[in-house]
Amino acid sequence: MWNYTDKVMDHFLHPRNVGEIENPDGVGEVGNAACGDALKLTFKLDDQGRIADVKFKTFGCASAIASSSALTELVKGKTLDEAAKVTNQEIAEMLGGLPEAKMHCSVMGMEALQKAISNYKGEASPFEDDHEHEG
Ligand code: FES
Ligand code: FES
Repeated sequence: MWNYTDKVMDHFLHPRNVGEIENPDGVGEVGNAACGDALKLTFKLDDQGRIADVKFKTFGCASAIASSSALTELVKGKTLDEAAKVTNQEIAEMLGGLPEAKMHCSVMGMEALQKAISNYKGEASPFEDDHEHEG
């Protein structure tokens, strides 16, 4: 049986940047119809085009919460191009590793961020439901 790392537990019990930004510059929502898990991410840019604030809300599990929390810490202060390059691997590393079976939960935050970036750029509806995996 897998034991969650202290860092996962810390981000799960004390998630950073939880909530929703009012009048955000970008909004991204992903959901998995199969299990009902969902995640919404909002961000605001500063006048340099860097992420000044970013928040998430999720109905996901401990791994989803911890990963999204880590993600928000990783992308704060980054430009959108830099933020879009953050990988799942970096998030997992920041958390000291995630159980293999839980890796899919950790991608919801990143998917929502990518949607929020598209939303900011006017490319896509932030509310499409295309988070697909078997969980
Ligand atoms: Fe659905 Fe982890 S977010 S099981
Ligand atoms: Fe629902 Fe993974 S997000 S099982």
